[in-house]
Amino acid sequence: MSENIKVLISNDQIENRIKELAMQIDEDYKGKSIKLICILKGGVVFLVELAKKLKLHCSMDFMAVSSYGDSLESSGIVKILKDLDESITGQDVILVEDIIDSGKTLSHILNHIKSQNPNSVRLCTLLDKPSRRVVDDVSVDYVGFSIPDEFVVGFGLDYKQGYRNLDYVGVLSLD
Ligand code: IMP
Ligand code: MG
Repeated sequence: MSENIKVLISNDQIENRIKELAMQIDEDYKGKSIKLICILKGGVVFLVELAKKLKLHCSMDFMAVSSYGDSLESSGIVKILKDLDESITGQDVILVEDIIDSGKTLSHILNHIKSQNPNSVRLCTLLDKPSRRVVDDVSVDYVGFSIPDEFVVGFGLDYKQGYRNLDYVGVLSLD
């Protein structure tokens, strides 16, 4: 079996789009400080690039949840493997994700976050696959790119833990 990767979104396109998102967030939260919450591991590359471009005062925290294992499909069973280190009560939170697919993972994480009474919660994702959504309680505030229903890797996204370090997003085909 060989694995082929075709470039879907180049590094230049990603960097430019992240600049735009950072400007938008700076504008929307003017005068406030925000807490960026990243879902490990996929969101981490995007979080780092986004955070470096923000002028706002921000802090970061991390959560880890179990998702697909080594399969290409969400199991829908989400387990929290690592919770937040600090309280988010009363804070303005932006949840930073690599990709929203079925939305099952995020729906679960959102409930968990909202139960801690932050002042506000918004969602920011590098990639969105809207055609795959099966939940209706997930609305995304900041989207890098909407993409078709293809399995992608790179810029944090993995297949069997590999390819996260690619500086572009590519479509993975297994043949
Ligand atoms: P959801 O619960 O179906 O929305 O799954 C979201 C999680 O599945 C993401 O945070 C990714 O870790 C993973 N995922 C979904 N689609 C892809 C993909 O195309 N490539 C790599 N990981 C993916
Ligand atoms: Mg993943």
